[in-house]
Amino acid sequence: MLRAVRSFLGSRWPVLGMLGAVAAALFAVWALIDESSVTLAAITALLGLTLVSLVMVGRIARAAEHRAKAVEHRAKAVEAQLEKVESANRTQASSLEQIKQAQADPNGGPLGAIVGAQRLDAAVRHDELVDSIAELSKKLDTVHKGVTTGFHDASIASEAQMSELSALSNLYTIFEPSDEVPVLGGFAATPQTILRLTSLVMHLPEDGLVVECGSGSSTVWMAFACRRAGHGRVVALEHDERYAEQTRQALARHRLAEFAAVRVAELEPFTLDETTFDWYDRKQWDDLSGIDLLFVDGPPGSIGPRSRYPAFPLLAPALADGAVVALDDIHRDAEARIGADWLAEGADGVSLHDGGMIGRTRLLTVNRAEGDDRAEGDDRAES
Ligand SMILES: C[S@@+](CC[C@H](N)C(=O)[O-])C[C@H]1O[C@@H](n2cnc3c(N)ncnc32)[C@H](O)[C@@H]1O
Repeated sequence: MLRAVRSFLGSRWPVLGMLGAVAAALFAVWALIDESSVTLAAITALLGLTLVSLVMVGRIARAAEHRAKAVEHRAKAVEAQLEKVESANRTQASSLEQIKQAQADPNGGPLGAIVGAQRLDAAVRHDELVDSIAELSKKLDTVHKGVTTGFHDASIASEAQMSELSALSNLYTIFEPSDEVPVLGGFAATPQTILRLTSLVMHLPEDGLVVECGSGSSTVWMAFACRRAGHGRVVALEHDERYAEQTRQALARHRLAEFAAVRVAELEPFTLDETTFDWYDRKQWDDLSGIDLLFVDGPPGSIGPRSRYPAFPLLAPALADGAVVALDDIHRDAEARIGADWLAEGADGVSLHDGGMIGRTRLLTVNRAEGDDRAEGDDRAES
């Protein structure tokens, strides 16, 4: 009940109080005018004054309360401000402490660690950059060397081509073939080799004998040289009937048959120092002696890597003193080794001496042991 009354009065209290005061004043005035009771008028007036006083006091109290609340609110705001300032001060103090630590720490503290890490990173990148520059420089060097080598090789190849062309032109000028001549190079010997062989053929003794292992263009050109010199003859051993026939036809085309004979010699096994080789049928070369020039250009490598090795050991007894053995395709490892073995081993009282290189052919000269004239007899075989 009391609460309901208080709630009702609430904020209406000053108005109701003032209305009550006015009503009391009016009642006091009416009581005086009516002369009913002076005492009642006085009490009523006093009640009105009391009500006014209460309203005034209430208003003052409420204003004071408001002010107190405002002051409290402001105090809280100031307190919050102070808290913020204090927090900022704490952060600053902590930063200052860190800076002090960093200044005191010879390694630079946390800041130093960051700066150190960045320095390390920069150093690593610098090293990487230096490495990649070195790598690039190496690659450039390799490219440069490759280009230089390429130019060098191209220049050597072009010089070799010039020499071959020059030798070819010499051959045509010297022998003046009037019909097609089998090509040189590739399977056939190169022009430089043929030019040297023809030159040797033209300087052979009257009854000079040339034996060739593997027939072809070389047979034709050496036959040209025999005709030009007016002496000498060529015996070519050929294991393949087809190539033998081709060479015979070329010889016939140039009317050279009397200067060169192609003998078909099947390949048969020969054992030399416990190694077996396939080489030309003995019946086709056993009658030969006094050989002045032996051109070893067969059997082909497809027969075996050392297919040409037996030529010197088997024909050594038939080589004339001072004869020349020409081993072709010396640029190949197998042939280079065969030449070296012949030089080192000798055969049947015959030793070989290096006579130099012409193109891809190695020339070796024959030296017979003194008093050994087995190959010098006048039993030179007919082809
Ligand atoms: C290097 S060739 C001999 C070439 C010959 N001395 C010359 O200079 O013309 C060795 C052997 O290869 C074979 N031959 C010749 N001409 C050939 C060709 N065009 N293709 C494949 N083999 C060939 C023959 O059996 C010959 O005996």
